[in-house]
Amino acid sequence: MGLQRFAWVAVITIGFAVSSLAIDSTSTSIVPHLSSHTLQKHDVDLTAPLLQDFQVYPPVLIASSNGSLSLTDGSSTTTDVAPVSNATSCQEVLMVYSFANSYGAPFVGNYTPPSCSFNRITLNFTVTSAGRQFDRLGTLYFGDTEIWRTSTAEPTSIGIRWTYLKDVTNYLTLFQQQQKIIFDLGNLINNIYTAPYNATLTASFFTAGDSDPPADLIFPVSARQSASNAPSVFTFPVDNATNTLTLPQNIRRAVFTIAACGQAEEEFWWSNVLSSDTQTFPQTGALYGFSPFRELQLFIDGMLAGVAWPFPIIFTGGVVPGLWRPIVGIDAFDLREDEIDITPFLPLLCDGAAHSFEIRVSGINDTGNGTGVLAETVGSNWPVTGKIFLWLDPEGSVTTGSGPLATTPDPVFQLSSSVGKLPNGTNETLTYQVNAQRSISFVSTINTANGSQTASWSQNLTYSNFGNFTAAGNTQVNNQSTSGEDLSSLNYSRSLNYPLYAFSVYGTVRDNITIFANVLRGRDVQTIGQAVFPTGLESFEPVEAVQNQYPAFQGSLLQTTQNGTATYFSNQTSNTSFSFGTTVQDMVFAGVVTSDSGNAESPPQVVSTSELFRRHVEADNSTVIEDDETVIGHSIRPAHFNSPSMNDFAGSGTRSMLGRGPPGSKAASRRK
Ligand SMILES: *[C@@H]1O[C@H](CO)[C@@H](O)[C@H](O)[C@H]1NC(C)=O
Ligand SMILES: *[C@@H]1O[C@H](CO)[C@@H](O)[C@H](O)[C@H]1NC(C)=O
Ligand SMILES: *[C@@H]1O[C@H](CO)[C@@H](O)[C@H](O)[C@H]1NC(C)=O
Ligand SMILES: *[C@@H]1O[C@H](CO)[C@@H](O)[C@H](O)[C@H]1NC(C)=O
Ligand SMILES: *[C@@H]1O[C@H](CO)[C@@H](O)[C@H](O)[C@H]1NC(C)=O
Ligand SMILES: *[C@@H]1O[C@H](CO)[C@@H](O)[C@H](O)[C@H]1NC(C)=O
Ligand SMILES: *[C@@H]1O[C@H](CO)[C@@H](O)[C@H](O)[C@H]1NC(C)=O
Ligand SMILES: *[C@@H]1O[C@H](CO)[C@@H](O)[C@H](O)[C@H]1NC(C)=O
Ligand SMILES: *[C@@H]1O[C@H](CO)[C@@H](O)[C@H](O)[C@H]1NC(C)=O
Ligand SMILES: *[C@@H]1O[C@H](CO)[C@@H](O)[C@H](O)[C@H]1NC(C)=O
Ligand SMILES: *[C@@H]1O[C@H](CO)[C@@H](O)[C@H](O)[C@H]1NC(C)=O
Ligand SMILES: *[C@@H]1O[C@H](CO)[C@@H](O)[C@H](O)[C@H]1NC(C)=O
Repeated sequence: MGLQRFAWVAVITIGFAVSSLAIDSTSTSIVPHLSSHTLQKHDVDLTAPLLQDFQVYPPVLIASSNGSLSLTDGSSTTTDVAPVSNATSCQEVLMVYSFANSYGAPFVGNYTPPSCSFNRITLNFTVTSAGRQFDRLGTLYFGDTEIWRTSTAEPTSIGIRWTYLKDVTNYLTLFQQQQKIIFDLGNLINNIYTAPYNATLTASFFTAGDSDPPADLIFPVSARQSASNAPSVFTFPVDNATNTLTLPQNIRRAVFTIAACGQAEEEFWWSNVLSSDTQTFPQTGALYGFSPFRELQLFIDGMLAGVAWPFPIIFTGGVVPGLWRPIVGIDAFDLREDEIDITPFLPLLCDGAAHSFEIRVSGINDTGNGTGVLAETVGSNWPVTGKIFLWLDPEGSVTTGSGPLATTPDPVFQLSSSVGKLPNGTNETLTYQVNAQRSISFVSTINTANGSQTASWSQNLTYSNFGNFTAAGNTQVNNQSTSGEDLSSLNYSRSLNYPLYAFSVYGTVRDNITIFANVLRGRDVQTIGQAVFPTGLESFEPVEAVQNQYPAFQGSLLQTTQNGTATYFSNQTSNTSFSFGTTVQDMVFAGVVTSDSGNAESPPQVVSTSELFRRHVEADNSTVIEDDETVIGHSIRPAHFNSPSMNDFAGSGTRSMLGRGPPGSKAASRRK
């Protein structure tokens, strides 16, 4: 993954398919319309304020060293949480490491459970970096089990810093035991790419009111390389991502989760074209194929057991870096895993025998005349791992039953594409449309310690992507929509909607490169019932102001959008590049009250929603110019308007990172 990613990046810089550009950080960063003054390269001055990058996400609970609990997203001032019990808490540093030439050289350390008692864990990943660098993928493992997949912001010459806090209470069972920590963040340092990523990972352990009990056991489906101190990722499609496992026989609930993201030819999978169209613009090189549709698949003993239609992650160098500084793309610091309830497979999985679990990533293999089928493979490559989360009945109990009855028709695809030619026969435009729809379901009768019950899992997903490549591929539009509903009989349902519009224009002035881009995207997820991963709602449970409402919430709703416009300019003569732009992000997070009418056929109806968190933030040329944050009805002042050192530079405005206004003063910080 790592070296391939770098090798591919080197190829890309000579100018392949436009939206497939992954771009390194700029060596200097200027705001052209604010100043004619060009920033000189200089050494890192660590007394200068570092640019604070951040992901927008709902605040999580974290305990400080004095034992008090607070609700915070790391970049904002905190909301104190009234203690509901005598919370025990403690902290542990899991890693302090500088990722420099770190391909094939992950951090390896040991985890020992802390002395305090705890039922929740929040991780704090804080990174500083200065110089020039690509965005990199980072993955934390406990042994062979992937715990967290993240990616990096791209540094500036003066330096950046970010903190991301992640509730990892779902891994409680792993945190109760000794573990080998492996943190893989492949990076490369040379004459041009100068920046290491200096990372600190700490864990905060504390006790707060019980939420749903986390899994009793977690089995990885991974390359299982921890014994040789290596990351346990499968690289699909080169690796066959299969583990054969014998599970305990007293399982009452089982959920499979898949961690996966496209890299190299697959980083911008949502802008790939039909395989029959990859040679449309031979003058600019082959386009990437397998269509812009992707499906993550789980097979148990060769039978399809569930799917996930992935959220289109865009890393911080993606499309145009100026879109993602300092607000990174949705989930770039916390790549999420979708959940597949495999409880209907328990009659099979609890038989005491070994069963195979295989993860595949599939695009579309098209015929070139409007038809296509699942390819059961994709281009190079997708790093993937899986996990099986198990909830157990008392020892000695054996789960039996009949099933599953699987209804797994192939997806229905509607494909079309057309190539427009210049009078002399040269291809000039490519437009294409890919629509997909899939409904699958699994039903069993299972006998557990609680008696006999029906276990079912169904998924209903819809996808569309319209692509319009003009100017021989130098102008690209993709307008994609992924939506769907997952429903389990065991009190879990999820509905999702991921719109993505990306427009980019690639141009060259002699050898210099310019890219203009507009990206509009969103992520809407409503989760009802008992999810494997924290949805964010759990963090509000001990907060006094919501204690009356909290018991009525059966789920949560997260809605966020990003609208960014940015330009990238690369001066090939001086080997420098600039990127600047404007990005606006809105997020609402709410508790959801439902009626009790949910059943195996339909999720419960939403009766009302209560807003818990809202944030509206606008960044202009690397500077946050507007940031309104509301937690449980209270406006709070984000910390980046609070830093005293910013006052010193309030009048400057020559550099992106220095153009901030005085604390809390939005009007004064609007400089145009
Ligand atoms: C996260 O960790 C960093 C570095 O260790 C620290 O400076 C920061 O205060 C921590 N943030 C929170 C919210 O605990
Ligand atoms: C918390 O501890 C203090 C002192 O140890 C004690 O006085 C108080 O009653 C305890 N509170 C609760 C809610 O247990
Ligand atoms: C990162 O760590 C290296 C090695 O310790 C150090 O030289 C460098 O200054 C650090 N960079 C930042 C931005 O803190
Ligand atoms: C991966 O290996 C399993 C078990 O050996 C096999 O059943 C499966 O067909 C293989 N998958 C692929 C895509 O080759
Ligand atoms: C035009 O595009 C089609 C479809 O991708 C391709 O088969 C053909 O070779 C291209 N023609 C030229 C002249 O590039
Ligand atoms: C074109 O599509 C038809 C079905 O519509 C199919 O029968 C035929 O084999 C396809 N041709 C090619 C070259 O794939
Ligand atoms: C795509 O389909 C064609 C025709 O069925 C087949 O020959 C080819 O192997 C398939 N390619 C992939 C990658 O599945
Ligand atoms: C076709 O016409 C375009 C636009 O005039 C020109 O750029 C291109 O070189 C021509 N191609 C050939 C093969 O003549
Ligand atoms: C799947 O979703 C579509 C679109 O929302 C809807 O029309 C259809 O009835 C659903 N099918 C099932 C089986 O739920
Ligand atoms: C594709 O984009 C071009 C250039 O903007 C536009 O003229 C054309 O109408 C678009 N095609 C479609 C099918 O929307
Ligand atoms: C790139 O642009 C710069 C600044 O406009 C100019 O000085 C330089 O000559 C250009 N380089 C090339 C290779 O065109
Ligand atoms: C996105 O932002 C651009 C300006 O940057 C604005 O013109 C456009 O209306 C915005 N679109 C939406 C849907 O908010």
